[in-house]
Amino acid sequence: MSKMAALLPAPLSGKFTGSFAYDTLKDRLPTILTKVIDTLHRHKNEFFEEYGEKGIEAEKKAIAYLSKLRNELQTDKPLIALNDNLFDTTLWNQHLEYHQSISNEPPSWFQSPWLYTECYMYRRIHEALVLNPPISDFDVFKEEKINGFFESQQAIIVLSTYLQELLKNIADLGEKRLQEEFLKLLQVSLWGNKCDLSISGGKANSQKSDPLQSLQELKSFILVDHTEKIWSLLSNKKKNAQITRIDIVLDNAGFELTADFILAEFLISSKLATEIHFHGKSIPWYVSDTTKQDFNWIIKQMQSSNHKWMSKCGASWEGNLKKGVWVYNDHFFWTSPHEYSSMDKVASDLYTELQKSNLIIFKGDLNYRKLTGDRKWEFTVPFHQALNNFHPAPLCSLRTLKCDIQVGLKPGQGEQFMTTEPEWMLIGKYGVIQFDAAS
Ligand code: F6P
Ligand code: MG
Repeated sequence: MSKMAALLPAPLSGKFTGSFAYDTLKDRLPTILTKVIDTLHRHKNEFFEEYGEKGIEAEKKAIAYLSKLRNELQTDKPLIALNDNLFDTTLWNQHLEYHQSISNEPPSWFQSPWLYTECYMYRRIHEALVLNPPISDFDVFKEEKINGFFESQQAIIVLSTYLQELLKNIADLGEKRLQEEFLKLLQVSLWGNKCDLSISGGKANSQKSDPLQSLQELKSFILVDHTEKIWSLLSNKKKNAQITRIDIVLDNAGFELTADFILAEFLISSKLATEIHFHGKSIPWYVSDTTKQDFNWIIKQMQSSNHKWMSKCGASWEGNLKKGVWVYNDHFFWTSPHEYSSMDKVASDLYTELQKSNLIIFKGDLNYRKLTGDRKWEFTVPFHQALNNFHPAPLCSLRTLKCDIQVGLKPGQGEQFMTTEPEWMLIGKYGVIQFDAAS
């Protein structure tokens, strides 16, 4: 372990009995695995129709693999190497060797850092499919992601209508009004992060209420709000007619992704940004995270909607992609077990790419865990410090709190919550818009 690493707080881990990490490993993750097994089972006929006996055979083997995986997790077995020969397999196995080398005990599900073991579970789910062609490309979480989008339909209509009305005279909006609209749509994108399907163990978790009407009421639940700083950065660039590249490191598909698209369209139309680079996941991840298929699927759905403003949104988003004003990317690093402070070493190409950005928006809770290394930081530690030298460009986190890490709070604030509302960090009720200038 390096000198620097020795100074960092301990990573969250299932070895702390009763912690959120422990509960997740004990209850939530086995439930997710059971759902995955059920999903494969329910698609048996579909596999047969498409691939004949080979499809059924593959489904059986994948289910056997996943049942064994669930057993390994529930009995805290040592983690094992991957066998699927994908481009990131060696990296995962090197990570395992590293953990073997720093501990006297073989790394196991509950004893190792939680960030590692939870990511490892999703990578093993992927391996269960990859090792079993012809069903290797089947996304076991696709149905839930699609349902999340349809269940949020009313909220999406509200947002699309609002955006299209706003765009009619966007060029004439004064500075103050533009700032107000920016603030609103940033908050809609923040609260969209409540709709993740990993915290709910895969149970429906969509946006049912009007996402704009609730903003005022939700304001007091934003614990850190650096919107002003983000606004100054973007509006100054606009005043100087500079090229402004914003990167959005996406989180969940469904309503959250739609809210991110609404924000991205507003940023381009208002000239607060000149290009948006989206970053998604290259494999199904944490149940509801966005893959390229999900990204394209939502744009197609919007485009083909019967609702005038939804289809208008879909058409202009498709246009943004064609013009190269919007760009979609994925990179293996986003589905690796690594915290972001090691990005420059593990994925230097991605780090160099992010350095070209003027603002990186990290969506969601898992990104916050990776930004802060998933460690037991004191509540008052500055965000800049918790980033542990990860400063490719100015960045901000839009995150609803769904695990027990929070930095950058005022003295006493976290302790106060611990006594009045012990679950405050775990239930997605609170959020942060937390900025770091990277200098
Ligand atoms: O187990 C709950 C959990 O999986 C956390 O590990 C993770 O932080 C969160 O859910 C996922 O949330 P999000 O979609 O906001 O990253
Ligand atoms: Mg997610």
